[in-house]
Amino acid sequence: MKTASTILAVLATAGQLATAIPLDTQDVDSIKSASGTLAYGLMSFYQNNKTSTPLTEIGTLEEPLYWWEAGAMWGGMVDYWAYTGDTSYVDTTQQGLLAQIGPHNNYMPPAYFASLGNDDQAFWILAALSAAEYQFPLPGGNTSTTWLDLAEAGFNTMVPRWNMSACNGGLSWQIFPENPNGMSYKNSISNGGMFQIAARLAHYTGNQTYLDWADKIWGWMEGVKLIDDDYNVWDGTGSEKNCSEVNQQAWSYNPSMMLYGSAILFNQTTSAIWRDRTTGLLEACANAFFSPFPNATDIAFERTCEKRGTCNNDQYSFKAYLSRWLAKSAVMAPFIQDSVFQLVNSSATAAVQTCTGGESGELCGQKWYIGGFDGSSGVGQQLSVLETVQALLLLQDDVQPAEPVVASKPQRGGAGRAVDGGDAEATKVRQAPASPSTTQAPQEVVTVVKTKTVVTTAEC
Ligand SMILES: *[C@@H]1O[C@H](CO)[C@@H](O)[C@H](O)[C@H]1NC(C)=O
Ligand SMILES: *[C@@H]1O[C@H](CO)[C@@H](O)[C@H](O)[C@H]1NC(C)=O
Ligand SMILES: *[C@@H]1O[C@H](CO)[C@@H](O)[C@H](O)[C@H]1NC(C)=O
Ligand SMILES: *[C@@H]1O[C@H](CO)[C@@H](O)[C@H](O)[C@H]1NC(C)=O
Ligand SMILES: *[C@@H]1O[C@H](CO)[C@@H](O)[C@H](O)[C@H]1NC(C)=O
Ligand SMILES: *[C@@H]1O[C@H](CO)[C@@H](O)[C@H](O)[C@H]1NC(C)=O
Ligand SMILES: *[C@@H]1O[C@H](CO)[C@@H](O)[C@H](O)[C@H]1NC(C)=O
Ligand SMILES: *[C@@H]1O[C@H](CO)[C@@H](O)[C@H](O)[C@H]1NC(C)=O
Repeated sequence: MKTASTILAVLATAGQLATAIPLDTQDVDSIKSASGTLAYGLMSFYQNNKTSTPLTEIGTLEEPLYWWEAGAMWGGMVDYWAYTGDTSYVDTTQQGLLAQIGPHNNYMPPAYFASLGNDDQAFWILAALSAAEYQFPLPGGNTSTTWLDLAEAGFNTMVPRWNMSACNGGLSWQIFPENPNGMSYKNSISNGGMFQIAARLAHYTGNQTYLDWADKIWGWMEGVKLIDDDYNVWDGTGSEKNCSEVNQQAWSYNPSMMLYGSAILFNQTTSAIWRDRTTGLLEACANAFFSPFPNATDIAFERTCEKRGTCNNDQYSFKAYLSRWLAKSAVMAPFIQDSVFQLVNSSATAAVQTCTGGESGELCGQKWYIGGFDGSSGVGQQLSVLETVQALLLLQDDVQPAEPVVASKPQRGGAGRAVDGGDAEATKVRQAPASPSTTQAPQEVVTVVKTKTVVTTAEC
């Protein structure tokens, strides 16, 4: 039976349907306000911080979402704090990021071994790196090097996994042979994850070891043609055939993962090689993952699944990382800033038009090119719009961008204060889901045709 209050709620929802989240992409206050609304919507999906949550599940998202996506989300929330100065979710984010470090402080928690591959671990390490780079607070005002220690320890678990048994190297997708399909598959998101971690650690610490690894990983990926001559970055390749055949699926998080690492290495070395790679990857991103239709110029889309409506929960979130790394790249390689702004501006403008869903009338959809909510909401959809909108804060001409700090620089003052993580009591420990690991359910191959170059990079 419908009560009067449900009817009123329905009417209220209907009344809000017409109003998207307001956004002026060149006004800092407007961007922050829209980001705040989007972050609130994102955090409304997060439930695993209740006192009844088993300790092993704190910081994770509820099934069917995989472990990795929570790490990706916290990375977005660290950026949210760093870019906006809003401390509302600092304690929640801190608690989540510290709850999953595992017994060896390297983001290998045994409760999630059943779905924990190199790419999954990489997304948590990348979140810890953002926390280190932006001096994200620790409980009790702790100013130790915890975030950096976590990232370095995570990186150092990957080093011995470098797999010379075929293909002259590369990380296998999976870490544990028990997990299906992944020991012989060498994918770009795992290797690209290690590449970006190495590049960021090189930038942060100045330690040559990381620079050497970044060079080596790029060389290997190029060698087996995971990165092709047009800077497309394909999904993966199998060691059964010594990595001679590449699975040419295109996912937006692969070239954008490589782009940010390359932009950092350009910044670090100022070499023409990394400059060319930065430019090439930006063009590859722009050509493959923007402008799905003539009426949707420069609007981001997930090429391999979105138009056909076959994206899974992982894939809903990929546009978040596309935007995140485009904008961070523009900070490190200012010569691409105008091109990146053009893409992020159009995408953010379109994306907020979809945010009229859910009971709040503020949840976002998946397809940004249709001009409204498409009925599909969730963590990945919400994170994608949040990260695209907040990315605009790195791309304002008159604002000091949130530049990642290096180890020797003084701490950023003031933006966030340390907040206690809070205690959560474990009442019972549930078994980890014994599900196959994360991404990339096989899909039909979509070949990217370079028909146009929408990005023009400034002369240097
Ligand atoms: C859990 O996280 C949400 C979102 O940040 C927050 O509103 C809530 O207070 C948190 N609950 C606990 C017990 O920390
Ligand atoms: C600060 O971090 C260090 C290193 O992780 C840890 O040993 C120490 O207990 C922490 N202190 C507080 C007050 O949390
Ligand atoms: C296997 O692939 C690697 C990388 O492309 C190459 O260096 C090596 O020569 C190949 N080995 C064989 C036996 O084909
Ligand atoms: C290396 O790859 C082989 C398949 O080529 C696989 O059997 C083995 O488990 C992998 N080892 C590691 C450490 O990834
Ligand atoms: C550089 O980083 C590597 C890997 O973490 C570490 O083993 C080495 O001690 C570091 N070197 C210096 C000089 O800190
Ligand atoms: C490196 O990044 C900093 C911070 O954004 C920027 O000021 C500097 O111009 C960049 N260096 C190069 C060579 O582009
Ligand atoms: C941002 O994108 C919107 C929608 O495409 C466009 O109307 C507006 O002119 C763009 N703003 C700038 C500063 O380019
Ligand atoms: C743009 O064109 C596509 C394909 O025809 C269509 O699905 C979409 O709804 C259009 N978008 C708008 C905003 O009209």
